[in-house]
Amino acid sequence: MSEIHLTINGQEVVAQSGQTVLEAAKAAGIDIPVLCHHPALSNWGACRMCVVEVEGMRTVQTACTLPAAEGMKISTHTPKTTSLRKFVLELLFSERNHYCMYCQMSGNCELQDQAYAHGLDHWTYPRPFEKLNVDASRKYFIMDHNRCILCSRCIRACAEVAANHTLDLRNRGAKTMVIADLDVPFGESSCVECGTCLQVCPTGALVDARSAYGGREKDVTHTPTTCMQCSIGCELDVVTRYSRLLRVDGVWGSEPNDGLLCVDGRFKPLYEERKRVTRPLLRKDGELVEVSWGEALAAVADKLKGGSCQGLAACATTNEALAGFAHLMNRVGGKGGRLEPQAPPLGYGVPGRVTDVLSADFIIVAGAQPLEYQRVIGYFIHRAADKGIPVAVITDTENALSERASMTVAAAQAGVVAQAAAAAEKVVLVYSIGIKPEVIAALKPLGDKVHFLALDPARNGKGAEAAGLQPLTPVKADVAYVLLGEQAPEETLQLKAGFKVVQAAYVSPLTEQADVVLPTPVWSERQGHVTTLDGAVKPLQVVLPAPAGVRDETEVFEQLLGLLG
Ligand code: SF4
Ligand code: SF4
Ligand code: SF4
Ligand code: FES
Repeated sequence: MSEIHLTINGQEVVAQSGQTVLEAAKAAGIDIPVLCHHPALSNWGACRMCVVEVEGMRTVQTACTLPAAEGMKISTHTPKTTSLRKFVLELLFSERNHYCMYCQMSGNCELQDQAYAHGLDHWTYPRPFEKLNVDASRKYFIMDHNRCILCSRCIRACAEVAANHTLDLRNRGAKTMVIADLDVPFGESSCVECGTCLQVCPTGALVDARSAYGGREKDVTHTPTTCMQCSIGCELDVVTRYSRLLRVDGVWGSEPNDGLLCVDGRFKPLYEERKRVTRPLLRKDGELVEVSWGEALAAVADKLKGGSCQGLAACATTNEALAGFAHLMNRVGGKGGRLEPQAPPLGYGVPGRVTDVLSADFIIVAGAQPLEYQRVIGYFIHRAADKGIPVAVITDTENALSERASMTVAAAQAGVVAQAAAAAEKVVLVYSIGIKPEVIAALKPLGDKVHFLALDPARNGKGAEAAGLQPLTPVKADVAYVLLGEQAPEETLQLKAGFKVVQAAYVSPLTEQADVVLPTPVWSERQGHVTTLDGAVKPLQVVLPAPAGVRDETEVFEQLLGLLG
């Protein structure tokens, strides 16, 4: 990259080659209004809000698409550019229904902001707009075509960020509409409900069903935290008001997901329907009854003092809680481990990072289903495939990635993949618990050019690893102590112990088996840290207070240690 010197509004600006005038201006602290531009997306030059005057050029130029060049002299706010922007806004406001007072995005809408900034206080043109469809066929968000300004941010986000290519435009001119697939209802389309389009929409056209009318931007609280729904550990911006979860957004520029989320992280936790455990329960006369924390913990401590104990942790909690659990098990001389299996070591290659998927020149997926369980990695693989990077899937069962992979082979043919990848310089191997020993052996010739991502089926498997918790299966013991958190247990899980303690956030078949149930917080109520797939230790922040009666696991372990003496 080389430096470029230009002048913007009389100010000397140093830009980097390859930057647009908009980027150069932004870096210099000069604001140029935009609507169709979004920093995470390619430039489209559609709305004309960013027009600037360039000395020596006959017409105004769109700053978002104009490459910065040496010696340019640019004026961003002249009578001409301001009047053109106002004209653009007047046309947009007359084209579709923008009665802001009835729009749920009022107060948090880029179009409205620009209208205020440009003094739009009445309609200059007749409003010929017809009533357009509102598509509410998707569970989590709604498409209101009446508010759409056809900026195409959603289309580019779906194609470039989620690599899903669901959205497009139909027709031309005044008849243009955003459509899903071949113009089917959004709920019947190929949409994977990642919500990226929703996050980039500058108006009230894409509306979050949960947070609609829940609070304007000035009324809500934003809390940065880390997603705990799978082992990737995407960064989140959680929006709340009055102790109510309104919305979860991705954080642009964050590692490893750069704003991209999936349905599991963005939407599903807000629609949780399982029944919470909010009080300690103790089995008396065959029935689980509510008791005080003191009585419940005394009963647990009493049993822990007296016999053999097996501790099993679902890794759905903080590093601190997992370490506390391991410590408690050591203290009582019990065997502590994790419930979920773990991907085996390869014995070759170097540990990769999630973003390595985007810079690989060959991707192998073996014994893993990232589109199901670590979806952002699945979308990254789709992004790589869009750029022509070969993707080989090694599987003996169905794998959703096969549809866009360049080859899918059975485990017995893994050697074919090793040959195909032999000439590549950076091979990313995405694998999980389903990888077979013969596949590990067949890929061994690729050696240290393999950057591997061992997908952990447990949410905070790395945190469990750091706490020394290895996979265990339930065995006979006097006491079984299961740290479940918010994890839904396997239906087949049966504890083989005389006394069963389950520390869980939700009622489940496992809590029904228990002799003592201790309530735990859920992801949005926890304070602590998780370790991401990349090995980064990231904070979990309290977004909402836990229900009264719920105690953090670390506090409970300390109290038990105190009772054990
Ligand atoms: S939710 Fe995701 S997949 Fe669905 S249309 Fe929006 S960006 Fe595309
Ligand atoms: S739905 Fe939103 S992001 Fe998509 S074109 Fe319309 S206004 Fe733009
Ligand atoms: S990919 Fe995993 S960490 Fe990222 S949003 Fe989805 S569930 Fe959360
Ligand atoms: S922001 Fe530049 S044309 Fe829309």
